[in-house]
Amino acid sequence: MSDSRSIRELADRYYLPVYAPRQAVLERGEGSRVWDREGREYVDLAAGIAVTALGHANPQLRQALMQQADKLWHTSNVFVSEPPLRLAQALVEHSGFASRAFLCSSGAEANEAAIKLARRYASSQGRDESHRTILTFDNSFHGRTMATVTAGGQPKYRATFEPLPGGFDYLPFNDLAAVRARMARGDVCAILVEPVQGEGGVTPATPEFLRGLRDLCDNTRALLMFDEVQCGMGRTGTLFAWEQSGVKPDVVTLAKALGAGIPIGAMLCTEQAANCMAVGAHGSTFGGNPLASAVALKALEMLADPSLLANVTRQSNALVDGLQAINARIGCFTEIRGQGLMLGAQLSQAWSGRASEILDACMEKGLLALQAGPDVLRFVPALNIGDADIAEGLTRLESALRALQ
Ligand SMILES: Cc1ncc(COP(=O)(O)O)c(C=O)c1O
Repeated sequence: MSDSRSIRELADRYYLPVYAPRQAVLERGEGSRVWDREGREYVDLAAGIAVTALGHANPQLRQALMQQADKLWHTSNVFVSEPPLRLAQALVEHSGFASRAFLCSSGAEANEAAIKLARRYASSQGRDESHRTILTFDNSFHGRTMATVTAGGQPKYRATFEPLPGGFDYLPFNDLAAVRARMARGDVCAILVEPVQGEGGVTPATPEFLRGLRDLCDNTRALLMFDEVQCGMGRTGTLFAWEQSGVKPDVVTLAKALGAGIPIGAMLCTEQAANCMAVGAHGSTFGGNPLASAVALKALEMLADPSLLANVTRQSNALVDGLQAINARIGCFTEIRGQGLMLGAQLSQAWSGRASEILDACMEKGLLALQAGPDVLRFVPALNIGDADIAEGLTRLESALRALQ
């Protein structure tokens, strides 16, 4: 059997060199624990970047997967099967604002669908090309395809990929006055915003900001589009992140936890927005694959369970309290922010730029966590994580930080 080092080296040898994976080779998981090939155990506060929201090897998801695997994996959208139709129905019914769903396979693809919808909606209103600008925000992240990387408000991800698609403009996050001033130019057809910015530093939008965006969109016939790829599907403590503020969007995009580990994404929109679409206007071969949809349908049922959502709030409080206690002893954070089980710890001056080094030390101590840039530790565990996993994760985090002191 190959050893871990030789397996890990395959990444350096054969992958397009776009990732810098950490050293361990992960082999299996159960709940919020993961084991590597050497049998070392880790507490998982990363959940595959906010994806495995119901833990690893969840028996109910496994059952849904295996039952569908015995029946039908893929049809394409030339034909229909029940799982994706039931998933679309359940998503629409849970959403409280949408009446249509487009299923796809990733977050970027969900945002691509939203971007195309916004442009076509503007076109259907008779707006010419110069009046179809989509506003996004500094530090936002919307994906890596050409349109979504252009939509994202982090220039480092766009650099060297020019020429970029046009018609995007970037404004400071949580600055309503800036948006109001920009919209006065009359060329904005949509606003795309994460209710909680993820990659950009785990920063929630203020409810006033979201309410203000809603008003501005209503007054200008622009679409308000929430990217809930990371913050949606229960992560904030409500099924949709927008429920935290009560501000309903016209469009919402989902992925990550939607499949709880199987690749699937969705774009939900109002009937009015959907009306601009027509047969052939958009599509995806894999979108709404029955195998992925059967798992997502089961995941949705579990994620919408009030007791699961109550666990998010309870464990969020435990994690915040634990991080604050660590901070009181070590003085490593200036702020702990986020919503529900999407938390970021801003490193203090003395620890500035050391997030990656801290995460390596965490792995040494048996903990998987994430960063959001060089100065923020990010915690996005499974939403059904238990008390013991949170407590043990915090213990291991503290010992990793102490090892670096
Ligand atoms: C808010 C947000 N939108 C979109 C994406 C892109 O999703 P994917 O990597 O599935 O294409 C991400 C991924 O991290 C994200 O956090």
